[in-house]
Amino acid sequence: MKGLDKELLAAARGAMKHAYAPYSRFAVGAALRLSDGQVITGSNFENASYGLSLCAETVALATANAQGRLADVEAIAVAGPEMAIPCGRCRQILSEAEQVAGRAISIYCTSADGDRVLQYSLAELLPHAFTLANVERNDAKDA
Ligand code: THU
Repeated sequence: MKGLDKELLAAARGAMKHAYAPYSRFAVGAALRLSDGQVITGSNFENASYGLSLCAETVALATANAQGRLADVEAIAVAGPEMAIPCGRCRQILSEAEQVAGRAISIYCTSADGDRVLQYSLAELLPHAFTLANVERNDAKDA
């Protein structure tokens, strides 16, 4: 992605409006940029059984997959009240998306007011990721 994708950051902030977060009251929005320019959004989706809650990034990535577009994800923007940064589970799901896409996915984190933006690579957020390659090595050992 060339320069800062302000439209994507704005889409992530916009998706905060659709957060279902009655328990944490911490609204998060995520937006994916696909290779053809399309944007797919997601919002956190909480549950009375707290641990079942889904993060905005996970919802957006699962939506991309449901539309057959996971391989086309180039960047993700995440927006939260002060700032939102992908949790460990979302980092692992992003790792799977990178594997499917065959490329690095740029990660942008922003505040609700848009004043602050941080950029990361998944290699920074999840070094030494557990991937398909690890599973295949384990299978090979069993054979
Ligand atoms: N959350 C996200 O959706 N994405 C993040 O990057 C951090 C956390 C959600 C999970 C939960 O619904 C709420 O924010 C508080 O943790």
